[in-house]
Amino acid sequence: MRKPIIAGNWKMFKTVSEATAFINEVKGKAEVDGVESVICAPFTNLPALVEAVKGTTLKIGAQNLHFEDNGAFTGEISGVMLKELGVEYVIIGHSERRAYFAESDEIVNKKVLAAFKHDLTPILCVGEKLEEREAGQTKDVCKVQTEAAFAGLSAEQAAQVVIAYEPIWAIGTGKSSTAADAQDVIGYIRGIVAGLYGADTANAVRIQYGGSVKPNNIAEYLGEADIDGALVGGASLEPASYIALVEGAK
Ligand code: G3H
Repeated sequence: MRKPIIAGNWKMFKTVSEATAFINEVKGKAEVDGVESVICAPFTNLPALVEAVKGTTLKIGAQNLHFEDNGAFTGEISGVMLKELGVEYVIIGHSERRAYFAESDEIVNKKVLAAFKHDLTPILCVGEKLEEREAGQTKDVCKVQTEAAFAGLSAEQAAQVVIAYEPIWAIGTGKSSTAADAQDVIGYIRGIVAGLYGADTANAVRIQYGGSVKPNNIAEYLGEADIDGALVGGASLEPASYIALVEGAK
């Protein structure tokens, strides 16, 4: 059985004091047996958050990493640095990074490999643009992105990747994919992993849906056979809403 995973992606929101106040409010509440609960915060919040979640089951993730360990890369943060902080997860290839920071499939792959090098669990984002969906290319886009990102991973590593299927047109727009449509694509993505590594690995991989997930629709997604959780932006920012999301994944 795959353990459901709810990950909040705070994007570029919250100062250190706001972040620690959030943890104090959700402690003991956004902790539900059988559900993994991860907060992916801006880099500046990570040391304080790792400290704040000690003694809880909450986990902390970053939203990006550089694929090199160190070097002349002004403004970048590496896996070595994240690992030493006690961060456990890292979002890789979010559509905002692909669109605004020119992250190619090749860069995404290098970042996935770097995450494993430093024992960080990647939350790998894939998903189509609106025009790609309208052109009937959703599955092709997901196939290309998934296969590229997994290049060079062993089956053991592949089984640990968390994939987040996020149709770009559904991010922050209030227009969510129907649960049935999300299941269709996510089942297809699981089949891609099966094609690369076999059924056992594919059955172990957790695949989230992301895009306008809210407390009032989370249960529908989690009710689908292949949907193992959600990557949530806006609705992860308020403690009450985040708690409801984690409870909704039971
Ligand atoms: O990483 C999260 C996604 O971009 C979804 O964001 O829940 O605000 O639509 P959203």
